[in-house]
Amino acid sequence: MELAGKICVVTGAARGIGAALVRELKARGAAHVAATDILPSVHDIEAHSTHICDVTKAEKVEALVAEIESKHGSIDLFCSNAGVLNGFDLSFDNAGSADAAEWQLAWDVNVMAHVHAARALVPRMKARGGGYFLNTASAAGLLTLIGSATYSATKHAALGFAENLAITHRDDGIRVSALCPQAVDTAMIGDDPNNPASLDGILSAEDVAKAALDGVEAERFLILPHPGVDNYFRAKAADYERWIGGMAKLQRQFKVE
Ligand SMILES: NC(=O)c1ccc[n+]([C@@H]2O[C@H](COP(=O)([O-])OP(=O)(O)OC[C@H]3O[C@@H](n4cnc5c(N)ncnc54)[C@H](O)[C@@H]3O)[C@@H](O)[C@H]2O)c1
Repeated sequence: MELAGKICVVTGAARGIGAALVRELKARGAAHVAATDILPSVHDIEAHSTHICDVTKAEKVEALVAEIESKHGSIDLFCSNAGVLNGFDLSFDNAGSADAAEWQLAWDVNVMAHVHAARALVPRMKARGGGYFLNTASAAGLLTLIGSATYSATKHAALGFAENLAITHRDDGIRVSALCPQAVDTAMIGDDPNNPASLDGILSAEDVAKAALDGVEAERFLILPHPGVDNYFRAKAADYERWIGGMAKLQRQFKVE
């Protein structure tokens, strides 16, 4: 999809990848870029409009979409990018040990936010013959993030939803991209080279935003800014048993007593 002249929304835009997506969309000539976040600091972002929206709340996402469409025009691209990384435990005591509130938060932000966006926008996009969702998942949704079961499981679900969205609405003219980076230098993981996510290097948010929008312009479903992920994914598919063993071996080097 050509981005010049388009109406775009980015969630989780107060910082990190979301803020970089806002800058890159503007650089590529988008007509209106709406930056939204739960953090009031989103108002400091240089976007065409800024909005507070808790994406875990269906009615807030619906209201956001209605407000932007009534004031600025039909949304062409919705970047569902907000996410949380929690339940991180490098003692590897118990993969199920995160408490219920952590699991719920991960589910609500990393999965249901994408569902709420689709519920609000699919009817509108169908009525006008198409639209685009860029959903930020993670390489953890294709592989796993050693140390966080909440993140790994919910990012798999995010990818599963993106696949279903893409298939269900292809004939409605709706296109979907799933952004699946490994480590990115943002507040989420920082530049810690000892984080398991950082094993293959840490990209800047700017580089990830560029890769994401190159993928949207090429209308590619799977966007992998880190070059090694494609091979890992193929290796996993080729021999799942070997992959599980290899990941367990890799985990040993991150164990904190
Ligand atoms: N940083 C990485 O290494 C990495 C790797 C792969 C995928 N991702 C994904 O990229 C996306 C952006 O993350 P980031 O790295 O920029 O981290 P970040 O923490 O800097 O940004 C996440 C943003 O989401 C917002 N957010 C959280 N809960 C929200 C809610 N309920 N409603 C609205 N906004 C909410 C936060 O306020 C924050 O501004 C996330 O989906 C994340 O899972 C990040």
